[in-house]
Amino acid sequence: IRKIGVLTSGGDAPGMNAGVRAVVRKAIYHGLEVVGIRRGYAGLLDGDFRPMPLESVGDIIQRGGTCLYTARCLEFMTEEGQRRGYQRLVDAGIEGLVVFGGDGSFHGAQKLHELGIRTIGVPSTIDNDIGACDANIGFDTAVQTAIQAIDKIRDTATSHERTYVIEVMGRSAGHIALAAGLAGGAESVLIPEVPYKLEDVVAKLQRGVARGKKHSIIVVAEGAAHGVEVGRYIEEHTGFDTRVTVLGHVQRGGAPSAVDRVLASRLGAYAVELCMQGVSGAMAATQNGELVAVPFDEVFRSERKPAQELCELAEILSI
Ligand code: F6P
Repeated sequence: IRKIGVLTSGGDAPGMNAGVRAVVRKAIYHGLEVVGIRRGYAGLLDGDFRPMPLESVGDIIQRGGTCLYTARCLEFMTEEGQRRGYQRLVDAGIEGLVVFGGDGSFHGAQKLHELGIRTIGVPSTIDNDIGACDANIGFDTAVQTAIQAIDKIRDTATSHERTYVIEVMGRSAGHIALAAGLAGGAESVLIPEVPYKLEDVVAKLQRGVARGKKHSIIVVAEGAAHGVEVGRYIEEHTGFDTRVTVLGHVQRGGAPSAVDRVLASRLGAYAVELCMQGVSGAMAATQNGELVAVPFDEVFRSERKPAQELCELAEILSI
């Protein structure tokens, strides 16, 4: 293999830049040429390609976002779009492709693999919902960002003796909410994977107040409910002074944590290694800390669910 492409796709994740840097440096170290494809599959269809020499990835390891830009591309979901993308790669002499992204991005990568491009995915989404691996790039940083916000909100919640509902990201996954709720000492954590009743949340709040609690924090994953609606329900049913904060896209930005930088560096470099070995249609990941290649088919079957033990712990520690 002589030339590989790299792209970032779907929602960005802190650490993607560190991953792209690792792909470029590792490939050049082994004498390969690297082409950066901008704006994910949209840029692939438009032929938005740039050569990536060593210096193109200087000074980016510490930056959030992605220097390659990213997009969610509907056209690439069609067979016609996938064929055009494949042809673009063939015309540019690109024999291997490293795709940073989540589930949707991996489905696109799988199609290119089936068409004959050597394709490796690198799990990158703050939602942490790609399974069959220890962690997805960006999750650690997003949780850190959420915790910093929750700690700050707790200060003012204490001063004003208020109830706070904090909505965190997680389109259909509660990993950020669970980790941030546990680490932030939340009274209740609502996630899409576990059924809940708002009346139970209210009853728990009232028990706390009866015991002398002055303030409360409820963490809600966006995939479980709208924070504003939860806040309204609580205020209506308790009369407690309640405020709502939706953290939103602040969770997707910022400097990646050391954990995310190291993970992204390892996986980016390993993705190149796999391409050189002739592996294709697989995700570069760690399992129990060890580098592994997991076939996409297996990845698609193994969506990550929040650990039962963590859910129970969050419940126990917030009685
Ligand atoms: O998948 C990552 C994520 O941040 C989800 O948590 C969120 O639901 C979604 O992306 C938001 O997407 P967009 O940036 O397109 O609004």
